[in-house]
Amino acid sequence: MISLKQILVTAGALFSVAQSQQFIIQNWGNGQDTTNYTYKSLEAGRFTVDWVLGPGGNFVVGKGYRGSPDLVVNYTAKYNPQGNSYFGLYGFTSNPFVEFYVVEAFAEHNPSDNAGHSFYGYHNSDGAQYELWSKYNGNLRQYFAVRRTSRRGGTITFRNHYNAWKAAGLPAGTVGNTFIVVEGQQGRGNADITVGVRPTGTIAETPTPTTRSVVCETPTQTIGTVCRPRNAKRTEAYMV
Ligand SMILES: *[C@@H]1O[C@H](CO)[C@@H](O)[C@H](O)[C@H]1NC(C)=O
Ligand SMILES: *[C@@H]1O[C@H](CO)[C@@H](O)[C@H](O)[C@H]1NC(C)=O
Repeated sequence: MISLKQILVTAGALFSVAQSQQFIIQNWGNGQDTTNYTYKSLEAGRFTVDWVLGPGGNFVVGKGYRGSPDLVVNYTAKYNPQGNSYFGLYGFTSNPFVEFYVVEAFAEHNPSDNAGHSFYGYHNSDGAQYELWSKYNGNLRQYFAVRRTSRRGGTITFRNHYNAWKAAGLPAGTVGNTFIVVEGQQGRGNADITVGVRPTGTIAETPTPTTRSVVCETPTQTIGTVCRPRNAKRTEAYMV
């Protein structure tokens, strides 16, 4: 069976399909026996994924575009996760090497609850406030913008998040391919996502759970609250 990716690559070579019509596929699994997922690339920006993952399982799948700070991404999502899973915009920058997420919804685990994460303030984008969290282990930097009301459809104006990193004093390099993704860790679920199309009508939003236990391992941390890293340049809410 010929995959959509093959068709697009072939069509691109023969007919020079407009860049806006092409989607880049993201399909990574960590190869563990416990990483059991089925990713399907469907027409245009649509993809589905079903998963049942045991301990140590991890995948990141989706569809996206060539990256740019000015990327604007519409999406429509059915996203039904249990356990640990994130949904949102995902990619890397180079020089420096940064893994970034704009988290629109998640299952049980708030990514801000990762050990060693520090809070860098709030920023506004696309009708809501996001929290900016970062972790640097001496090798890889990770930036998580976590929407404070979860949603499953809308528009992500990446520039607002990119500018928030800069305003917080966090380095940002050249933006690489950027995807709407589902990440799965231990747990199960299913999703049916269409990149490039936003839902019509009102998009429901629900308050994002903010239960936290291990964030900001600093002497001043209060469990369950947003902590302030000692070296953060900016911790006040600001408008973009
Ligand atoms: C793998 O996941 C599928 C659903 O995506 C499920 O139906 C199947 O039972 C799982 N297999 C194992 C070995 O867990
Ligand atoms: C996003 O959706 C809006 C509303 O349908 C549309 O006006 C806009 O052109 C879309 N943008 C992209 C980049 O798809």
